[in-house]
Amino acid sequence: MAYLLLNGALPNSSQYQKFLEELKGGRSLPPRLRTVLEQLPSTTHPMYVLRTAVSALGCMEPESNERQGVKVATRLLAILPTCLLYWYQFAHHGHRIEEESGATDIASHFLTLLHPGYKIDETSVLALNTTLILYAEHEFNASTFAARVTTGTAADIYSAVTTAIGTLSGPLHGGANEEAMELIASMSNAAEVPDRIRKMLAAKEKIMGFGHRVYKQHDPRSDIVKELVQRFAQEKGRAQQFEIAQAIEQTMLQEKKLYPNVDFYAGLLYHFLDIPSGLFTPIFVLSRVSGWCAHILEQRADNRLIRPVAEYVGPTMQPFIALADRK
Ligand code: COA
Repeated sequence: MAYLLLNGALPNSSQYQKFLEELKGGRSLPPRLRTVLEQLPSTTHPMYVLRTAVSALGCMEPESNERQGVKVATRLLAILPTCLLYWYQFAHHGHRIEEESGATDIASHFLTLLHPGYKIDETSVLALNTTLILYAEHEFNASTFAARVTTGTAADIYSAVTTAIGTLSGPLHGGANEEAMELIASMSNAAEVPDRIRKMLAAKEKIMGFGHRVYKQHDPRSDIVKELVQRFAQEKGRAQQFEIAQAIEQTMLQEKKLYPNVDFYAGLLYHFLDIPSGLFTPIFVLSRVSGWCAHILEQRADNRLIRPVAEYVGPTMQPFIALADRK
């Protein structure tokens, strides 16, 4: 999927092998980046860690004639899981990880670094890779648009990706999966769901993981993730949390006619994969970086500065009052 987004066509088998080798070869961190990551407090949100890592890498490996475009995008795709888990294991568990996992796909690499010493099962890899594919690209969402705006000024690719990560970090965009999981985890059974959700709606609270600016009827990505969650719920004996999630879905449909978006069940799926909730939105980044970079390269290929014009609706002519005379 990432190759398709970055190159415009699916790879043949030799291009595919070469791409996998490039990903494998691009996973380790420059020593100075390790130092930067080690300085970040354990209380930092992992999204800000990624934002900092991309910005710092841009200082260490700036774009040049030899290093640009798809090359930088591939490096980012390869290195970001290592950046995230290097910081996570160092800040939270006090040890420096083995940066090479030997894995070719991103999901296996991520899970190996997150759970060192455990055998990673195929179902987990399939589930994580599926969400990575679903998250990879979604046309002009807020973070992609932000990356386009930054690229439109002829800024470098690292600045555009840093902008995009900052934009994705908000709970109305990428951060919804983390908050959706918190809501599910805060309930002990499905029976308490309708009352709780109704109270939240009456208090004008938003239920994270529901609604979408474009999918007003239904987010097709959500069905795929829900199916994976259902499978895990049975296999891992976590049926109760799945029931709670389904009860939230039903109540939201009844009360607001709102459908779950991709983030609602993704949070639960990651929880079943024993991924800490702070890493949910960063996983979105590990995948969406391919979509962002595809947009950045497209914007560059036929660029024009993006500069909206505002319609001013405030007061018109105001008298000037000298500072000393202002109340
Ligand atoms: N929970 C409760 N009410 C919601 C809601 C939610 N998740 N999403 C939308 N609504 C309500 C709004 O309050 C509004 O109600 P009103 O008409 O009574 O004021 C109505 O539905 C229309 O919503 P609006 O905010 O205009 O839709 P939007 O297109 O601007 O917003 C989102 C889209 C995604 C920002 C919005 O649905 C949301 O905040 N969802 C939760 C965050 C989330 O899951 N984001 C991930 C998106 S992939």
